[in-house]
Amino acid sequence: MKMTVFGAGYLGATHAACMAELGHEVLGVDTNRGKLAKLEAGDVPFYEPGLPEVLRRNIDQGRLNFTDSYAEAAAWAKTHFIAVGTPQKKGEFGADLSYIDAVIDELVPLLTDDAVLFGKSTVPVGTAARLTTRVSQLARDVDVEVSWNPEFLREGYAVADTLHPDRLVLGTRPGGRAEQVAREIYASLIVDGVPLLVTDLATAELVKVSANAFLATKISFINAVAEVCEAAGADIAALSDAIGRDPRIGRQFLNAGIGFGGGCLPKDIRAFMARAGELGADQALTLLREVDGINMRRRTRMVEIVRAASGTLIGSRIAVLGAAFKPGSDDVRDSPALNVAGQLQLNGAAVTVYDPHAMDNSRRLFPTLDYSTSAMEACEGADSVLVLTEWPEFVSLDPTSVSDVARGRNIIDGRYCLNRQDWESAGWTYHA
Ligand code: UDX
Repeated sequence: MKMTVFGAGYLGATHAACMAELGHEVLGVDTNRGKLAKLEAGDVPFYEPGLPEVLRRNIDQGRLNFTDSYAEAAAWAKTHFIAVGTPQKKGEFGADLSYIDAVIDELVPLLTDDAVLFGKSTVPVGTAARLTTRVSQLARDVDVEVSWNPEFLREGYAVADTLHPDRLVLGTRPGGRAEQVAREIYASLIVDGVPLLVTDLATAELVKVSANAFLATKISFINAVAEVCEAAGADIAALSDAIGRDPRIGRQFLNAGIGFGGGCLPKDIRAFMARAGELGADQALTLLREVDGINMRRRTRMVEIVRAASGTLIGSRIAVLGAAFKPGSDDVRDSPALNVAGQLQLNGAAVTVYDPHAMDNSRRLFPTLDYSTSAMEACEGADSVLVLTEWPEFVSLDPTSVSDVARGRNIIDGRYCLNRQDWESAGWTYHA
């Protein structure tokens, strides 16, 4: 099927490449020429394992092209995906929908045939209904249907999550064409057994935000228990393994540490709270205020642990291993690791950061921090070594080799990912 994907960021570039991989003829649309030039050359502007191969294969086979022309996009297809960003508004909890509105305002008047729009971006409940009204005002003698098809991909697993999702969710209006079109687009996934859950528009929007809110709640729950474990001298990692054995609880997303970050979980729970407030249902979501609070508290707590371990932060040399918000990604948006590194520096420490993939993005966001070219170089002369993103190369660091270059013997595990015994046997004091 011919289709367009508006937005060539994380979500859009992945969706465009993966839809081409399913055999469709895809036109990716973005207003940023620089981004498009990279993608056209087969380069993915962010680190996502497996995506460059899918992108290049489909460009080479002629199924995937890019443009900045909305006129070309409108003429190309009757199926349009919207995958532009919905960031947090500056100084507010709510989501900024201006990029979505801009796509609708520019695209819809150009459509000369009936079309189905599939929203993929994460939006506050009620957005699809609002856009339906806007679209009907803008459409010129054509029927343009708005449906919502949220995306659940994780960074680092974006290709696999798109091509082999747990479920497909589609919000539609009664009697519309969207379900039939979606069944055609995703036919090969549906044959493979992926369930297509069809709901109304509001439910589909809420499925996405509540899934992310639940994941965030799970992480903050275990981090709250970690606070009690710390006070009681209990072991949070062993506790997580034990409660995670109960299939009703499950072991995933029970890793305590410096908490969640990234471009989705933090902004999505805040937008969820803001929207609930607008709808008069804010009491139901006061829980999420606490989830956010517990999460942010982890970062300050980490600074306190480093201060206690180092004696003082002023003049201390600190190696921070990890800058990405999680391993497998170069994304540093709202990264707990960089937040902690920044706080330590503001408290007088000399901080050197190393990350295997997120150096360029970190330098752009935090130009005042010092950066190294390897983990070992970051540890040279360090009084304390912090592991704040659990990249495999940090998990498998040899404590004896680090002893050869470091000045102090404090290893601080922000992700409960290190083998405590190995470090302690090599003469290190382990903190977590
Ligand atoms: C998330 C959702 O998982 C995905 O379904 C949605 O589409 C987008 O948002 P992502 O942002 O890629 O995906 O990251 P995720 O793997 O969910 O991790 C989020 C954060 O939580 C990371 O900072 C990670 O380090 C942290 N985390 C995760 C924990 O602190 N503990 C855990 O047990 C799991």
